[in-house]
Amino acid sequence: DTTGIPHRPGRLPVAGDLLGANPRTPLQDTVRLGKRLGPIFSRKFFDIEVVLVSGVGLVTELNDETKFGKHVGMGVENLRALGGDGLFTAHTHEPNWRLAHDVLQPAFSAEAMRRYHPVMLEAARELVAAWDAASGPVDVSADMTRLTLETIGRAGFGYRFGSFERAEPHPFVTAMIRALRYAQLQNAKLPFVRRAFAGSAAQNRADIATMTNLVDEVIAGRRRGGEESRDLLGLMLTEGHPVTGERLDPVNIRNQAITFVVAGHETTSGALSFALYYLTRHPELLAKARAEVDAVWGGREPAFSDVAKLRYVRRVLDEAMRLWPTAPGYSRQAREDVVLGGKYRMRKGDWVVVPLPLLHRDPAVWADPEVFDPDRFEPAAVKKRPAQAYKPFGTGERACIGRQFALHEAVLALGTVLQRYDFDVDPQYELKIVESLTLKPSGFTLWPRVRTPAG
Ligand code: HEM
Repeated sequence: DTTGIPHRPGRLPVAGDLLGANPRTPLQDTVRLGKRLGPIFSRKFFDIEVVLVSGVGLVTELNDETKFGKHVGMGVENLRALGGDGLFTAHTHEPNWRLAHDVLQPAFSAEAMRRYHPVMLEAARELVAAWDAASGPVDVSADMTRLTLETIGRAGFGYRFGSFERAEPHPFVTAMIRALRYAQLQNAKLPFVRRAFAGSAAQNRADIATMTNLVDEVIAGRRRGGEESRDLLGLMLTEGHPVTGERLDPVNIRNQAITFVVAGHETTSGALSFALYYLTRHPELLAKARAEVDAVWGGREPAFSDVAKLRYVRRVLDEAMRLWPTAPGYSRQAREDVVLGGKYRMRKGDWVVVPLPLLHRDPAVWADPEVFDPDRFEPAAVKKRPAQAYKPFGTGERACIGRQFALHEAVLALGTVLQRYDFDVDPQYELKIVESLTLKPSGFTLWPRVRTPAG
């Protein structure tokens, strides 16, 4: 029941809040609107009305796992064409969700991170080689995407996309980006909007085939090669459930592989790009982060245990993901009839969206929410905040399984570039954000210059 929930003034009788809505920037539109409308509001397009909840009090209720669970809806439902019953797009009640979750959990243990560290370093070295050779500005989001794609390809599947050897993205990536856009825009009610922005169904089928074919080839190669590897693919092919011994079926393994490549790189690359954006806009913070890298790593390449020692660099990433959480929201569905906030009636199965950039700017929690300030993540400050005020990796049992992976990779990469480069900044650049499933700075360039030794 949405009675009494604020919405945009001037809602139209049939089309709802269509005026002023831009199909390319639904999230940024939502953020602008939410800043005006407060902790709960709705957006309506034709017969679909979506309730958005971003106040920390209400979100704390929604994150109570006894009352609510993940809702696979909106953008996520459409992604089932790509991810099927893979972890991200599975319904929690589908048996394959629990099975895959339990089989794959060991691939994200601290011990597993230690195993991935060398390939993460290898990818970082390729980024450094490319930036050393740069004779002008580089596109930061594009290069961070190369880095994270190489990392997940190698750590997950022993596969090299060769991103740094290519001027254009790997065909898998081109197909993936189009397929994500197609999926996202299936919610657009107007056929001409879908056609104009999403591309054709035939193109989408071809894109999905490009992705599945590559994954099938990699899996077949691994089966033929017969070598044992305890990466994601190795676990999926050889390990059963820790208790029942049940194995993942081949179609599910394919779904998981696509899921991990998609979920495992766009988000991390966006987080790195936003972090570099904010650091290069705040030279004093950049200096502080770099001083930490110099003090902790010196001129060395970091060992596994050196990465987590970069506390300030980590805070920079935390703060970048506060302002622009690159997976910008999640949906929660009522397990039973409930009254949210003592006021809003929800029936079993009703769901709402949590737009994370708004939760992360809730004025009840964050002073000067628009200001970039990594010190908000000092342990004492974190302790003072409500636990549910910051959720860039989602919540509950369906929270991000790749969180430690992403953080190790991102701190390692950011530390590496701070250690090695000064940056020439384009002073004209104003942050512009592209939305696919994730958020990324668009057109953001830096000219990396190898640092001359201090002194
Ligand atoms: C789920 C964010 C990196 C794999 C999620 C969710 C969020 C998220 C918010 C929950 C979505 C929901 O409730 O609908 C992020 C961010 C990342 C990141 C911000 C980087 C900064 C990664 C990486 C991997 C990964 C590196 C894999 C290596 C997954 C998977 C799920 C997931 C498989 C679904 C888990 C499940 O439902 O069981 N992520 N993620 N993510 N993420 Fe991440």
